[in-house]
Amino acid sequence: MKVPFYGHVRQYESIKSEIDAKMQEVIQSGQYVQGPMLKKFEQELAAYAGAKYAVGVGNGTDALWLTFMSLGLGPGDELITNANTFFATAEAIWIAGATAVLVDCDPKTKCLDPEAVKRAISRRTRAIVPVHLYGQCAPMPEIRAIGDEYGLFVIEDNAQAIDARGDSFRIGEHSDAVCISFIIQKNLGTYGDGGAIWTNHQFVSDRVKKLRNHGSNKRDVHSPGFNSRLDDLHAGILSAKLKHITEWSDRRIEIASKYTEGLKGCDFIELPYARPGYRHVFHLYVIETKNPADRDKMLEYLVKNGVDAKTHYSIAIHKQEGFPWGKPARLVPPLANAEKNASSCISLPMFPELSEEEIQYTIQVVRDWSKSK
Ligand SMILES: Cc1ncc(COP(=O)(O)O)c(C=O)c1O
Repeated sequence: MKVPFYGHVRQYESIKSEIDAKMQEVIQSGQYVQGPMLKKFEQELAAYAGAKYAVGVGNGTDALWLTFMSLGLGPGDELITNANTFFATAEAIWIAGATAVLVDCDPKTKCLDPEAVKRAISRRTRAIVPVHLYGQCAPMPEIRAIGDEYGLFVIEDNAQAIDARGDSFRIGEHSDAVCISFIIQKNLGTYGDGGAIWTNHQFVSDRVKKLRNHGSNKRDVHSPGFNSRLDDLHAGILSAKLKHITEWSDRRIEIASKYTEGLKGCDFIELPYARPGYRHVFHLYVIETKNPADRDKMLEYLVKNGVDAKTHYSIAIHKQEGFPWGKPARLVPPLANAEKNASSCISLPMFPELSEEEIQYTIQVVRDWSKSK
């Protein structure tokens, strides 16, 4: 049996008529860039998120750095984020010209550790960028409290956690802006690249709208900006998919609980930890081998036996070859939890269209691995 890591085509088949209708609507409208479908999707996204404004951009990385720029963050400013995140979080800080300050994560949730954030604060700190890693919210009330104490912006990297929430808070409630990626494999993904921000600050929305469109919000009137727009075809696809996000997240949660139940008692791995009361939407279901030396062997065993497992992310940002490539960066040790995560993580297949047979087969192959050692 083969269990794929992604189910893009299965998902398309399940809502084909809705997607096709949106694509037709855009094509027939004759307006493909900053047209009516983009406007419609931005309104739908803002309403869904409970935010005043949503702005579509080219991808999740641009969403981050355009937001940083809109807040006036740049050279000389320090932005604190996870050492264990997808590379783009730090990359966006560098694109904005600011300094990436990399700190450790909580050993259980893998999200930003507020104590590590406090230790990292300096005279130059201007913002905190928590990542809702794997689909679970960072502890936003604690992070916002630190931000308020030191007068910092808080920008959420929500590339992985649309539809997640905390025990007493929503994404966006304790920050200045939320940035999201719509790349194919995300929980809300298009057939290509896409991204957006949402915010309650009108000035952030206005500035990002201008920056994404060559510094222009009026024909022929420009100031320096960029080209980073969410195309209307993608907006149409996302508009169709947004209606399904809650049911898809529920299914991910259901699959995660099947994995957790089926893998109970496997003493060679640690299972993902969901904070009580939090809605963890399992963009990824990430286990860790207790012994980092087992990771590559186990990964190989899974793949050889038809389970397409992967790693997110096997090299922490500060361990990438050549780091920091002359870019401004500061490490705040210890980074032991981030490094342990990198050396021992394995992501099991996780998408809403997984079949019961595939879930049970995956569990069996993981369980069998210990016997094969
Ligand atoms: C945590 C995180 N931040 C940022 C990004 C960047 O998004 P994109 O690939 O759309 O630029 C991604 C995903 O790719 C991500 O997982």
